Amino acid sequence: MATVLAIETSCDETAVAIVNNRQVCSSIIASQIPVHQQYGGVVPEVASRQHLETINGAIALALEQAEVDWGKIDGIAATCAPGLVGALLVGLTAAKTLAMVHNKPFLGVHHLEGHIYATYLSEPTLEPPFLSLLVSGGHTSLIHVKDCGVYETLGETRDDAAGEAFDKVARLLHLGYPGGPVIDKLAKQGNPQAFTLPEGKISLPEGGYHRYDASFSGLKTAVLRLVQQFEKDGQSLPTKDVAASFQETVARSLTKRAITCATDYGLSTIAVGGGVAANSGLRQHLQQAAQTHNLRVLFPPLKFCTDNAAMIGCTAADHLNRGHTSPLTLGVHSRLAL
Ligand code: KG4
Ligand code: ZN
Repeated sequence: MATVLAIETSCDETAVAIVNNRQVCSSIIASQIPVHQQYGGVVPEVASRQHLETINGAIALALEQAEVDWGKIDGIAATCAPGLVGALLVGLTAAKTLAMVHNKPFLGVHHLEGHIYATYLSEPTLEPPFLSLLVSGGHTSLIHVKDCGVYETLGETRDDAAGEAFDKVARLLHLGYPGGPVIDKLAKQGNPQAFTLPEGKISLPEGGYHRYDASFSGLKTAVLRLVQQFEKDGQSLPTKDVAASFQETVARSLTKRAITCATDYGLSTIAVGGGVAANSGLRQHLQQAAQTHNLRVLFPPLKFCTDNAAMIGCTAADHLNRGHTSPLTLGVHSRLAL
């Protein structure tokens, strides 16, 4: 039964959590979003500096809120890949140092494995096999979760990730950063049938389309063309309708692929993870389709969809319970397959 102190600094959240297996004892998330908003996106060097300034306070607060001291901590973990190298280094170095000083086992965790494990925080009885639909700012993947650490990627995006598409379309619509939450909010007030946008299918050389891979760059270009057309015609853009139509298209595309994949592989549970799992349109579409196909779909609570350290702690606890540890020489990687 492992109690883990976990750190997540792969992008723009400085997060520290204390997790006892699948139970969250504390979860601190110091968001840098307001700092990066003025630049319209995450500035890597600024992110690293912010992590440095915040991390020690976040660690102290996580311990205080969980009401534990170092004696109760069985292991220390941090995200080691993928992500911004400078940002990852801050969290990983802090974790290694603490492991050395307090003589605790250390573990580096893959960020995507963390997003998969986020579902366990609200569904502690869930066990593999299941299908993970991982939709974040950097990834759009369908992953067959076979066991702890045993994963097979069945589908991916061929270009932009789902969250990236939300962020880029938000920029086109002058809605600021990050785009997902603001498009989600506007979409609720718009007509999702107002515009027919391309879903993005991957053609196969032998004919037909790839059943699980997605593509969002054509959709993004279609929104750009729409914006340009309204500008050319001197008309004001119906932003809410564009947001709703875009979100509807993304949700339909992801839902279709996830349901097809789960059915093909005989997996009765789809666990969704990553920032886009917070999207209300996706939640609605997928829940409805899953009901029709007699599948179970699980979404983490909103606070564990976007980046957090509780999911990293939950992953680490499972590995540490199996005797898995990392050497203190472990490095960080900006890209690393699951
Ligand atoms: O998982 P995450 O916090 O970080 C990565 O690992 O990338 O995901 C961040 C992404 C951003 O692209 C953000 O726009 C998107 O998740 N996102 C959303 C929503 N909330 C966050 N996208 C759609 N709807 C949302 N409600
Ligand atoms: Zn993430």
